[in-house]
Amino acid sequence: MPYSKIAALGHYVPEQVVTNAYLSTLMDTSDEWITERTGIKERRWIDPAKDTVANMSAKATRMALERAGLKEKDIEFIVFATITPDYFFPGSGVLLQRELGLEGIGALDIRNACSGFIYALSVADQYIKTGMYKTILVVGAEIQSTALDVTTRGRNTAVIFGDGAGVAILQAADKPGILSTHLHADGRFAEELYVRDPGSSRPREERQPEQILDTTHYKVVMNGNQVFKHAVTRFTEAIEEALQANNLRKDDISLLIPHQANLRISQFIQQKMELSDSQVYNNIMRYGNTTAASIPIAMSEAWAEGKIKENDLICLAAFGSGFTWASALLRW
Ligand code: COA
Repeated sequence: MPYSKIAALGHYVPEQVVTNAYLSTLMDTSDEWITERTGIKERRWIDPAKDTVANMSAKATRMALERAGLKEKDIEFIVFATITPDYFFPGSGVLLQRELGLEGIGALDIRNACSGFIYALSVADQYIKTGMYKTILVVGAEIQSTALDVTTRGRNTAVIFGDGAGVAILQAADKPGILSTHLHADGRFAEELYVRDPGSSRPREERQPEQILDTTHYKVVMNGNQVFKHAVTRFTEAIEEALQANNLRKDDISLLIPHQANLRISQFIQQKMELSDSQVYNNIMRYGNTTAASIPIAMSEAWAEGKIKENDLICLAAFGSGFTWASALLRW
């Protein structure tokens, strides 16, 4: 049975930089509050006249293809993680496939929020291991800015989320690159972090224009305290589960790339697991929480900065809406 490895990474973030100072002009917040609670200094927002989830992903893909010396036609399948697709349906996988001129190849969408990229990686890993495909494009991409409530009413979530896209090209290999993936979910907490509408299970009469004007549609509801508490526990469990399954220790980790949920969550995990600063990569300060895109953007940047080298042990971990959480261990 073949193994799978990441052959290349790529990312794209929109040009528009949105600082905490700018957000303070839209709502009652401050750079001090945002920095202290989340570590975020700025994030990127798309220009709706230019960017879509699909074309941001295409740009990230082209970066990865160039780095790997591959062509679009080498891609045999797409696994696309997003909770903010360009259309309610179809998913973003088919739109990216069209952008890349790859008509005919399969495209699968995954909706596991902040854990979406690791779920997508796990699916692609299994397809490669069974021999079904040899080269798979794995994507995490989000446009969240267009749905954020950027008034004081929405300030507990509007300051956190940002836009961007990241990809990994997964290929068959003769020795293990992806050592393991572990996936978890607990739907009892679905409503602790969710967007209710446009959901399908309510009567037609509830879908009134006032609801849309009232921003009930796409409104992110988050119980920040609950999310924080569960995140710090589940992140650590998922990392330890991955290490145990591979008979490895935390000292063996060359670089932990956690989903960029909140700098305080990353710091908490680092402290709890007694990892050094050089063992943990964070870029949330510059991009905010880009949900499914955060891990591939961070991995792509870490690689470009020379922080991922041959033979390194890379650990990915995520937690988010669902609740879902997951980890992956990779030998580079
Ligand atoms: N600017 C200023 N004040 C704000 C604010 C903002 N952007 N957002 C909320 N506040 C206010 C609240 O209204 C509240 O005011 P009050 O005390 O007068 O009622 C106060 O700040 C404290 O709110 P609280 O929600 O208790 O703050 P917190 O310390 O829990 O921090 C989060 C809020 C969201 C930063 C924090 O809970 C968190 O990081 N949770 C995890 C979220 C996360 O990671 N989500 C993504 C998961 S993938």
